[in-house]
This record gives sequence, structure tokens and C-alpha cells, in this order.
Amino acid sequence: MKTVPEILKLAAGEMGDQCKACPVCDGKACRNRMPGPGAKGIGDVAIRNYDAWQKIRVNMDTLVAKGAIDTTFRVFGREYAMPLFVGPIGAVTLHYGKKLGDAEYNDILIPAAKKAGILAFTGDGVDATIMQRATKTIAAAGGCGIPTVKPWDTATVREKMALARSTGAPAIAMDIDAAGLPFIQNLDPPAGPMSVDELAEVVASAGVPFIVKGVMSAKVARKAKQAGAAAVIVSNHGGRVLDQCPATAEVLEEVVDAVGDSMTVFVDGGIRSGVDIFKALALGADGVLVCRPFAPMIYGAGEEGVLQLITKYRAELADTMLMCGARKLSDITRDMVRV
Ligand SMILES: Cc1cc2nc3c(=O)[nH]c(=O)nc-3n(C[C@H](O)[C@H](O)[C@H](O)COP(=O)(O)O)c2cc1C
Repeated sequence: MKTVPEILKLAAGEMGDQCKACPVCDGKACRNRMPGPGAKGIGDVAIRNYDAWQKIRVNMDTLVAKGAIDTTFRVFGREYAMPLFVGPIGAVTLHYGKKLGDAEYNDILIPAAKKAGILAFTGDGVDATIMQRATKTIAAAGGCGIPTVKPWDTATVREKMALARSTGAPAIAMDIDAAGLPFIQNLDPPAGPMSVDELAEVVASAGVPFIVKGVMSAKVARKAKQAGAAAVIVSNHGGRVLDQCPATAEVLEEVVDAVGDSMTVFVDGGIRSGVDIFKALALGADGVLVCRPFAPMIYGAGEEGVLQLITKYRAELADTMLMCGARKLSDITRDMVRV
């Protein structure tokens, strides 16, 4: 088996002009490259996401009873190997060059994530075939994946929700912040903001728990709750939708305090290790998404790359739990980190 650094070397030069398959995916080399994996405007929101996790320290405590470390995670009626999902990428060719299309990317990612005992989200795009193929791949994997629909006009959302429902997925997501993406603005179908009532209709049509992705404050989390969503993802779309946002680590606790007792709270943006996953859980998240780092794994080594990165994150999470006095996820508490 190749190591993650070896796979990154294989990916370098294979990923179009914008992604450099960096040793640490910290948003610097691709900065404001969009199309590409960068961020919007001056491009520092992705960097800020990464930096914010690095400012958080973990508190060591080895004076606890011995016991096996258990990273298993239950959500939406299923059990997973760890509280990690692979984040969605839509329009793969546009951002990472011609080597892979969305269908090929998801055909590698979805079964590989399933094999590792977790789930991957799939993305959406102006090109209708992206969602059509993504939902076929999830269905073929027995519903092991989460389709993410963009906030298009009502008719398009209805069509895409029907595709999403046909997958057998345990949940369906919507990236409500997608209207800010420079490359989908003023295109057809149009994407844009929606009212709480409009969102409530989409949530009601899902038939499975609904996840609202792109929540960056207590106020918006409460609106998602009012619309009937089961979960929120604290996310600024990796800095791709609005320049000068706060980092996700900075607003996570605010969202957890507002809705954490009644909704599942996930977070993404710059999480790059099992130690970072531990920090997010200590700040109150139920689970995390990691997105960009999986792209070079897939370009460099396909299924093996996905499996290796998940294995690495799981080992790092287990090690941090061991060293901070947690045996299972519910043992991880706020006092185990220092902000
Ligand atoms: C090239 C690219 C495409 C993306 N496409 C989608 C998408 O279709 N739907 C979505 O909800 N998020 C999309 N995202 C956002 C990610 O899922 C995630 O929220 C963001 O990248 C932050 O996580 P990260 O720092 O781990 O990459 C995309 C991100 C990138 C870099």
C-alpha cells in the first residue's frame, strides 16, 4: 500500500493547472483560483478555515482507566466507522482538469468510502448529468452516499429531489450557500436564496432526514430548524461563496449552542487530520466533512487513496482520544481542547 505522501506525489501534475496536490491542503497554493479548488475574492477564507483549527490545542490526560478506543458513530439510523464524511465536489473536470469527470470521480469515491465504513456526499452542477450520474452511483452502492442538491429554482429542485430520493440514501443535503459560486451565477437553471417556507417544502419532500449545508451563524441554524431540517453543516463552502467570512471553527460553538440539543451538527472547512476531527467534536460537532484532500487521493491512487486517507484520519483520531482520556466519542468534551 502506498502512503499518503506517496499518493500526493503521484497526483501532482495530474490535477489540472490549479491544484498542486500540496503536502498540506491549506488553501495557499490555489488561493483564489476559481474555477479550480481555491476560494472566492482575495481567497483567504479557505486559509482562515485551516488556520483556525491549528490555533486550537488538545489537552493531554492519561490518568484514566484502560479501555479499547471506539470511534464508531451512529447517525440517521446507521453506524459508521468514524464521525467523518467525504465532502461533495461538483463539476470535477471544471476544477481539476480533464483526467476525470464527475461520474468517474464518484464511481471511485462512493464505493471506496463505503468500503472504509463511512459515507461520501456527492455534488451538483449546472450540467444536469452530474446529479443524474451521482444518484445512480449512490443507488448502485445500496444507498451508501448522500446526494447534495443545489438551491435551484423550484422546478429544478423538485426534479433533483426526486433523483435524490431514488438513491435509498439515509439523508439528503442542500448547499443553501451555493448561489455565491461565481461560476453558477446568472446561468440556467438559476440558483439563489430561498425563504424558510420554500426550504420547509423541500425538507418535507425529502422523506429522509434533511441536511442544510452552509450555515455560519446561530440565526441561520435556527431558520434551518424552523424549516424542519434534521441536521446542519457549519460550512462556508471552503471560502468559495463569500469572501471575508469567519472560519468555521470560529462559529461552530455558536451553532451548537443554538441548535445542538435538537439537531445533528456537522462542520467542514480546513479539517486536515484526525486531531482536527477531535477538536471539532470537542467544540460540540457530532461529525465532520473533509472535502478537498480526497481529490488528490483519487487522482493519485483511486480507491487505495481514499482508503489510505480515511485510515490515516481514523488512526489519528483514535490516538488523540487515547491521549486525551476519551474511550468513545461521547467521552469527548469541551475541556479536552484549549482555544
Ligand atoms: C472544487 C470544489 C467543488 C465543490 N463542489 C461542491 C458541491 O457541488 N456541493 C457542495 O455542497 N459543496 C461543494 N464544495 C464545497 C465542499 O464540499 C466543502 O464544503 C469545502 O470544500 C470545505 O471543505 P474542505 O476545506 O475540507 O475542502 C466544493 C468544493 C470544491 C473545492
